[in-house]
Amino acid sequence: MLFDAYGTLFDVYSVALLAEQLFPGHGQALSLLWRDKQIEYTRLVTTSNHGEHYRPFWELTRAALVYAIKKIVPGALSTGVATEFDNKYGATVERLMSQYRHLSAFPEDRQVLASLRQLGIPTGILSNGDAAMLKLAVKSAGIGDLLTHVISVDPIRKYKTHPEAYALGEQATGLKAAQILFVSSNAWDALAATWYGYQTLWVNRQQLPFEELGTQPTRTGSALGAVLDFFPTGEATP
Ligand code: LAC
Repeated sequence: MLFDAYGTLFDVYSVALLAEQLFPGHGQALSLLWRDKQIEYTRLVTTSNHGEHYRPFWELTRAALVYAIKKIVPGALSTGVATEFDNKYGATVERLMSQYRHLSAFPEDRQVLASLRQLGIPTGILSNGDAAMLKLAVKSAGIGDLLTHVISVDPIRKYKTHPEAYALGEQATGLKAAQILFVSSNAWDALAATWYGYQTLWVNRQQLPFEELGTQPTRTGSALGAVLDFFPTGEATP
């Protein structure tokens, strides 16, 4: 079973909270735009010029944060030249990036991963995050002992939803996508993984609509624990 990382296993809420403290009244808008821009940048560099503009997820995450501050925070754009922005917001950018680096796990994660381990089901992460980011996040979240694989797309320099990114899950496990359950709280990720051929669970914690492109995930749940519903009799399948 493979899990997406950010928002699925790692709770990014603490980042939104800090954003609100740093930019009162703008925290929510800032964190939403930050996330959307981060994902937009992954698509931009994956689809343009045969990937020649690829940069690791950490760098795209920082670039997206700078963009979001410039767009959302009143006055940030008018700082003009880069050095002015850096002088005014550099330390704030680093604080938010540091928070992003040390995210917590959702409280349910350990129990769910431990139950899967008891059932003999190998588990892993398949993420856009680069290896260094994922290593720290797994450590901060305290779930390293319960994961068999931590797979980053970074070595192939292509982000999800590129099929080669989803293929990494098959290569690491030696299984076909149809034999693997892929779990994501990102609707676009759950959709693309379904298109690729995985069994999928969309974890819809925020009661959002699913993507309107016809295909549905294999199942939808409101929390990570819904993965256990795939094994009602306790039978071990991947
Ligand atoms: C990931 C992002 C997309 O971990 O959440 O791949």
